[in-house]
Amino acid sequence: MNKKIIKIQNKKNKSKIVSLTAYSKNIAQILDKYCDIILVGDSMANVLYGLKDTHKISLKNIIQHTLSVKKGVKKSLLVVDMPKGSYSSKKKAKYNAKLIMKKTKCDAVKIESNNKNFEIIKELVKFKIPVMGHIGFTPQFKKKFKIEGDTDLKVKKLLREAKLIEKAGAFSIVLECLHTKASSLITKNIKIPTIGIGSSSKCDGQILVTDDMLGLSGFYPKFVKKYVKLDRIIENAVKKYTRDVKEMKFPTKKNFLNGSKRRQKL
Ligand code: KIV
Repeated sequence: MNKKIIKIQNKKNKSKIVSLTAYSKNIAQILDKYCDIILVGDSMANVLYGLKDTHKISLKNIIQHTLSVKKGVKKSLLVVDMPKGSYSSKKKAKYNAKLIMKKTKCDAVKIESNNKNFEIIKELVKFKIPVMGHIGFTPQFKKKFKIEGDTDLKVKKLLREAKLIEKAGAFSIVLECLHTKASSLITKNIKIPTIGIGSSSKCDGQILVTDDMLGLSGFYPKFVKKYVKLDRIIENAVKKYTRDVKEMKFPTKKNFLNGSKRRQKL
């Protein structure tokens, strides 16, 4: 098994797992210093491409962004989302997961659960492809963004699903939008680490969409903590640049490439 995966699994019940999404090298190289896991999420569909859901993002898009992210990642575990439709049969899943792994040299793939595709995970694991599961609100299969596991029966169903994903061989599992009762029970009752998003502090680790926590995406549900209002910072910089260009304060001689006796550095 990949050493990075073992290291992450060993954190269960000891220290929290830190995880964020990235779609490009510039962001990835900043995250890499702090994160255990970097996910190239299919959330890029909404966040980067402005699509209404994650359904239309292609395998080609995912691979292209992972190639960029990979350039910024030295130490974190690099996990790549398999897009909707790319793992709808064992054969398809194996072909596409192998393609992602081979082209991008990532460490693992993530697939969303539809409470039926446990055999797909088993098949990928059999071919030595590490898989991260994903339950609760799974945007590829569910339309309504709402809390999951808010009744005892639903908690039981989610626990069963998590256990089957663990049994199929997944090395970790994302819990999205789970009631605290469900995330707590699942985290206590499976051996693989749980990574929560909107699922309380009871999980073994946390993940957020980076553009959300930086205040760039415009999507801020209650579970997102905005650590900075990057949209305002960028707007201020653009405003200053606009003023400088109009008032001919930029470029100044400092920015000219000619006119110096010394050889210019570009
Ligand atoms: O696509 C994504 O960014 C994700 C995270 C929200 C877990 O799946």
